[in-house]
Amino acid sequence: MRNDWSGQAFPHPSGRRPIAGDALGADSAAPLQSTMERAAGLGPIFELKIFDQKFVFVSGAELAAELADESRFAKALSPALVALREFAGEGLFTAYNDETSWSLAHDLLRPAFTKDAMRRYHPIMLAAAQELFDVWDAHDGPVDVSADMTRLTMETISRTAFSTDFGSFSREEPHPFIPAMIAALKAGQRKGMLASMPGAGLMAKRIDKRNAHHQAYVDRLLDDIIVARRASEDDDDHDLLGIMLNTPHPETGARLDDVNIRHQILTFLVAGHETTSGALSFALHYLTRDPALLARAHEEVDRILGTDPDAEPAFEQVAKFRFLRRVLDEGLRLWPTAPAFTRSPRETTTLSTGHIMRPEDWAIVVLPLVHRDPAVWGDDADEFDPDRFLPERSRGRAAHTYKPFGTGERSCIGRQFALHEAVLVLARLLHRYDLSANPAYELRIAERLTLMPVGFELGLTRRTPADVPGTLEEDQAGPSDTCPASSIDQAGLKATSHGCPSGSQK
Ligand code: HEM
Repeated sequence: MRNDWSGQAFPHPSGRRPIAGDALGADSAAPLQSTMERAAGLGPIFELKIFDQKFVFVSGAELAAELADESRFAKALSPALVALREFAGEGLFTAYNDETSWSLAHDLLRPAFTKDAMRRYHPIMLAAAQELFDVWDAHDGPVDVSADMTRLTMETISRTAFSTDFGSFSREEPHPFIPAMIAALKAGQRKGMLASMPGAGLMAKRIDKRNAHHQAYVDRLLDDIIVARRASEDDDDHDLLGIMLNTPHPETGARLDDVNIRHQILTFLVAGHETTSGALSFALHYLTRDPALLARAHEEVDRILGTDPDAEPAFEQVAKFRFLRRVLDEGLRLWPTAPAFTRSPRETTTLSTGHIMRPEDWAIVVLPLVHRDPAVWGDDADEFDPDRFLPERSRGRAAHTYKPFGTGERSCIGRQFALHEAVLVLARLLHRYDLSANPAYELRIAERLTLMPVGFELGLTRRTPADVPGTLEEDQAGPSDTCPASSIDQAGLKATSHGCPSGSQK
C-alpha cells in the first residue's frame, strides 16, 4: 500500500501534524465530504497524509480524463478495496486486474447485461416496484425514501441475479442477511481506514473477532443458495447464478469455483443495490425541492404512460423517459453514489502536471470534485440542472470528464441494469403518486461504501386518472408483463420463478 510517489510532494490542507499528518482534520464518519471541503484551493491534485499512508487525490477534470486513458493507466485497489477483499475476495469489484478469475467472470457474466437480458429482468423489476407500492398504500404518513429505495433495489438485484427473494416487503425487519452483510462490510471498511494507524494489527484482530459471526452467517447463507440451486432441477443459465454454475468459458472451458461464485454473489448484492437506491433517492430529493422540475417530470410520465396512474411502462418505453434520465444523470454528477475510483499507470509516466507516476503509485479520482470542475461545468457547477445533459449541451463537452460508472475495462458492468431500473422506478412512482417533501429538509448524506441521503422523507398521495392531464400519445403504455415472485422457501429466502415468459401475469 506504499504510495510514496518517489517522494514528490503535493499541496495539502494546512495544519499538518508530525505523526498524525492530516488525520486530525478528517471526519471519520464522512471522509469523502470532509476531503471535499479540505480540497478547496489545493488545485487538481493534492494529498492527505494519514499517519504513514499517503493518499493522492485527483479533483481536476482534465487530469481525471488523462487518467482514463486505458493505454497508460488501469484500475488500482485503494486500501479500502484491499480491505474489502477479505469479504468479497476475487469478486469482480475487488479483483486485481491480472487475476484470471476476473477475466473469466467478466467474460461469463457479460451476456447477463445485454439488452436481451434487460428485457428478461424488466417484468421482475416492475413486480418488485409494485410490491413496494402495495406496502406504501397500506402505510400512513411520510416514507423514508432511502430505506425504501434500498429495500426495492436489494430485492430487484437478488431476484433478477439469483432468483432469490429476501422478502423485504413482507417483513417488519429486514432479512437477517442484510444487517449481517452491512456489519461485515463496515468491519472491512474500518480495517481499511485504520490500516495506516499505529496498532492497526491489534485493532484489526479485534474487529475480525467481533465480525466473525456476521461473516460466517453471510458465507453460510450464500453457500446454501449455491447448494440449493445445484440440488434443484434448474440447470439453465437464466440468471447470473445459473451462468456461474452451469456455463464453461466458451474458449477455455474454465469454470468459476464455488468460493469465487460466493464472492461474486456477494459482490453483485453489494454493488448492485445501494448505488442504485442512492441514485434514485438523490433524484427524488432534487425533483421534489423544485416544483418546476417536478412538473416537468409529471408531464413526461403522463405523456408517455397515459391517464391510468397504474400503467406499467413497456420495455421499449423506458428509453423514452429522457427528462427522467437527465435528472438521474445530473444527480449522479453532483453525488455519484460510488464516489471514487483509483488509478495507477501501466508503466512509469509523466503526468501533464509534471509529476512522475510509477506503477506502484496510485491516485484516487474524487468524482464529486471532478464533476464540479468549473472548467467543464461552469460557475454554477454546484447547482442541480438536468438540462446540462440535453444533447446540444453535452455535445462538445470534454471527453472522460463525467464518470459516475467508472472508466475503462473495469467500469461498471451493471450500468444498463441500474439505469433501466432507476428510470422505470422513477416513472412508475411519479405517475402513481403526488410527492411532497418537507421544505425545511436540508440534504444530509451518509457515507458507507456509497453515498445516500439520510432523513429524507416524502409524503405520497395516490393520483387518480382525474389528476393526470389527458395527453395520450401513440407511444403510451401497452399492457406489460409482471413476474410472479413465488415458491420454494429455503433459509427464509424464496427462490423466485424466473425468466417470466411473455404473457405471465401479476
Ligand atoms: C447507479 C448505480 C451504480 C453506480 C453509480 C455504479 C458505479 C460503479 C463504479 C464507479 C464502478 C467502478 C469502480 C472502480 O473502478 O473501482 C463500478 C463497478 C462495478 N459495478 Fe457498478 N454501479 C452502479 C450499479 C451497479 C449495478 C446495478 C450492478 C450489478 C447489477 C453493478 C455491478 C458492478 C460490478 C460487478 C463492478 C465491478 C466491475 C469490474 O471491475 O469488472 N453496479 N460500478
